[in-house]
Amino acid sequence: MAARITLIRVPLFARSFSAFQAKTAQYQEKSETMSSNLIPPPDVLKEPIKIPPRQLFGPGPSNMPDAVAHTQSMSLLGHLHPEFLKVMHDVRDGLKYLFQTTNDFTMCASGTGHSGMECAFLNLLERGESLLCVTTGLWGRRAESLGQRLGLQTFVVEAPQGEVVSVEEISKAIEQHKPTAMFVCIGESSTGIVQPIQGLSEACKKHNTLLIADTVSRSSNKSDIFPKKKQSYFFQVASIGAEPFKMDEWGVDCVYSATQKVLNAPPGLAPISFSKRAMFVQFDESDNLRISGTRSGIVRRR
Ligand SMILES: Cc1ncc(COP(=O)(O)O)c(C=O)c1O
Repeated sequence: MAARITLIRVPLFARSFSAFQAKTAQYQEKSETMSSNLIPPPDVLKEPIKIPPRQLFGPGPSNMPDAVAHTQSMSLLGHLHPEFLKVMHDVRDGLKYLFQTTNDFTMCASGTGHSGMECAFLNLLERGESLLCVTTGLWGRRAESLGQRLGLQTFVVEAPQGEVVSVEEISKAIEQHKPTAMFVCIGESSTGIVQPIQGLSEACKKHNTLLIADTVSRSSNKSDIFPKKKQSYFFQVASIGAEPFKMDEWGVDCVYSATQKVLNAPPGLAPISFSKRAMFVQFDESDNLRISGTRSGIVRRR
């Protein structure tokens, strides 16, 4: 038997080895042809990168303090190194403090603020479900357009330019549309307003609506260009790290932000947190994590 196996194996091995040789020759030929066509490396790559120092006064990116800048030159860790896991846990604890929440599902998504928005919508909503957008400027419209691309039914409750939507108006819209989720941009960087959301969680819970908050940006002080009566809505800075935000107390189900604004870190991470209620809809009846795009028709258990 052993001899038979060896006999079979030898020709198999010989065959796969010659196939390997043929493939290698093919690749060599291909890469030679490719190298003759290669676009030459641009001269700029031969120069050291020069970045002039800048003072950044916009909503973001913002200047990094030395302590943050220093971490950029530290050694990279592997994603399974215990030291890296500790960094992840420490970051989570810091973010829980930042968002004022006890939610364990608090982390950083890789990507900028937009990826936070996508992460929230893709995980909490299914094609055909509905999204109410509280729109006070560009970011409410961006949420609406993302919702439409995802095949959601979108509703809008909108404020005139530079104003906020009152809690009463929002509650009425929730009552009317009973949406699966509601999007609110707390610091609307396109107009400079801070949208209040305290008092909305009751209406949301009544209709099983998940409350999603964008706390990405900060705004410059626009009070000088708006009428005095609206000044209470304007702050020099708005949103996470600058403007009070209490996820648990205000009953927010998902909040996301971005690191390059008030948090004074480089761009590329979107801190995000999900409440227990929000996590509940991410599992199917068999307690399997629902993967976006594969779960239409699943009955919600909220
Ligand atoms: C309120 C708000 N939300 C979301 C974003 C998107 O963030 P990013 O540019 O990091 O993708 C911005 C960016 O300015 C913003 O101001």
